[in-house]
Amino acid sequence: MKNILLGVSGGIAAYKSANIISKLKKKGYNVRVIMTKNATEIITPLTLETLARDRVVVDMWEKKYNYDVEHISLADWADLILVAPTTLNIIGKIANGIADDMLTTVISASKAPVYFALAMNVNMYENPILIENITKLKKFGYNFIESDEGFLACNVNAKGRLKDEEEIVKIVENHFTKENFLIGKKILITAGPTEERLDPIRFLSNHSTGKMGYAIAKKCVEFGAEVILISGPTNLENQNNIETIRVKSALEMYDECLKHFSKIDIFISTAAVADYRPKVTSDKKIKKSEGNLIIELERNPDILLEMSKLKEHQKLIGFCAESENLIENAMGKLKRKNLDFIVANSVEYFSKDNNKVFIISKDESIKELEEMPKEYLAEFIVKSIVK
Ligand code: CTP
Repeated sequence: MKNILLGVSGGIAAYKSANIISKLKKKGYNVRVIMTKNATEIITPLTLETLARDRVVVDMWEKKYNYDVEHISLADWADLILVAPTTLNIIGKIANGIADDMLTTVISASKAPVYFALAMNVNMYENPILIENITKLKKFGYNFIESDEGFLACNVNAKGRLKDEEEIVKIVENHFTKENFLIGKKILITAGPTEERLDPIRFLSNHSTGKMGYAIAKKCVEFGAEVILISGPTNLENQNNIETIRVKSALEMYDECLKHFSKIDIFISTAAVADYRPKVTSDKKIKKSEGNLIIELERNPDILLEMSKLKEHQKLIGFCAESENLIENAMGKLKRKNLDFIVANSVEYFSKDNNKVFIISKDESIKELEEMPKEYLAEFIVKSIVK
C-alpha cells in the first residue's frame, strides 16, 4: 500500500488532521506524520501518534533510535506528501527555498508529489504575496487543494476553511487510482476566440465560448499535467491549478505561444483564432460618413502552423470546425500543419454545450465519438490523443 507523509502545520484546522489520518488508515494507507512546532500547540502529537500508530516527528534534532538521516529517509519513504492544513508560512518558506524545520526540510528534500491543503484567515488568503508564492509553486509542479468557504475561526463566513477531510482523502486516492498518465508533462492550450481591434470600441471576433479548450485544460490537469492556458476573451473563470494567460488578439496569442513553446511537451490548439485583422486600427472612434465603409484586413499568423515549424519533441493537436467536407478538410489541415492529431467537428456545434467530433491521427485513422457535453468529451479526447 502507498506511503502518505502527512504534514501538519499550525493553523486552527490542525485538529482536523486527526480525522484525515484515521480516514487514510481506514483506506489502508501507511501514514507517517510530521508536525510543525506551532501545530503541537493546537493538537498534541500523542493524539496523532495514536491514530497513525507511529511516532510523530516534530524536532529536527530529537534523539532517535535508528541511524538513518531522518529527513532524507522520510523524504524517500513518501509516495505522496499531503500538508493539511497548510499555513501561509509554510507556502512562503517552500516557495523561497527555506527549510528551517523538519516539515519544510522533508518537503524540500523529497521528489514525491506534494499536495498543500490550504486553510487560513480570508485576508491572509487574499494576500498578494501568498498568491504569488502559490503561482510560483504551481509552476514547479506543487499541487494545491483550495480551501472552501465557510465559517472561520476568526468569526466570518468566507473562503479559508480547510476542505472537507473526506474530500481531501478522495484527492489523495484519485492521485493513485486515476490514470495519471500526464504527470510531468507540460501542456500549452489555446482557447476561445480572438478579438481584432478596429477602434476603441469595436472589434472583429467570433462566437467561440472557449468551453472546449477550458474543459480539455481541466482534464489534462486531472490527469497530472501542468497546463498553461492561453485564453482569448471568454466568460469562463480561471480554474485552479491552471496558469491562465488572458489575451485579446491573435498577435498577442501568438506571442504568448512563442514564449512557452520550447518548454512544453504538447500543444493543443482549440482557439478560434481570427485569420485576419483590420490593417489599420483607429485610436479614435470611427465616425460614420455618407458612403460605404471599406475595411481592409490583413492576415494574422496561423499560430498552429507557426508552432509546427518550431516542432522538436512536441506533439501538436489541432481542432477544426467545418461547414462541408469535414473529414477531407480536416485531413488537409492535419497534413499542412504537420499535426499528430486533429479533432474535427461540424460548425453546427460551434458555441454549443454539446459536441460531436471525429479524431483523425497522422496515420489517417479516424475515430468517431458520440455526441456529448463538452466537459465529458474532453476526457475522451485527452485519452484518445495523449495516452
Ligand atoms: N489556427 C491557428 N491560427 C490561426 C487559424 C487557425 O492556430 N490563425 C488553428 C486553430 O486553433 C485550429 C486549427 O488551426 O486548431 C484549424 O483552424 P481552422 O480555423 O479550422 O482552420 P484554418 O487553418 O484557419 O483554415 P480555414 O480558415 O481555411 O478553414
